[in-house]
Amino acid sequence: MGSDLIKLLNLDHVGIAVHDLDHALDEYREKYGITPLYRETVASQGVEEAMIPLGGSFIQLLQPLGPETPVGRFLAKQGEGVHHLAWAVANINAALEHLKAQGARLVDSEPRPGGGGTRIAFVHPRDLAGTLIELVESPDD
Ligand code: CO
Repeated sequence: MGSDLIKLLNLDHVGIAVHDLDHALDEYREKYGITPLYRETVASQGVEEAMIPLGGSFIQLLQPLGPETPVGRFLAKQGEGVHHLAWAVANINAALEHLKAQGARLVDSEPRPGGGGTRIAFVHPRDLAGTLIELVESPDD
């Protein structure tokens, strides 16, 4: 019943925190031959991000806009590396209602704007084996 409500579609992206987005993009291009589809500053999240397509998913590189942002604090504490996993959902409002009913620890109780016109919400890493989860609803959905 719950799974009908949340309806996960696919792994949308893996978010990776980096100190220097230009340098990271050079490395991805030189070592793996992959380049971003777009690059965007998302002020509401305090990041500049680049989305690199890989199969049906993306690698999302995140450079913080300053040290007092969530990704800035993550980098200071843990260094560069995997920051979150993002799962595409058909309906983010329904997904959040489902998770609330399950007693999940939500970072965002309501969706907020993400990059590329998406709507997103984060679920606290303590809710699921230390993994920060982002739910993403595409503008097309
Ligand atoms: Co993300």
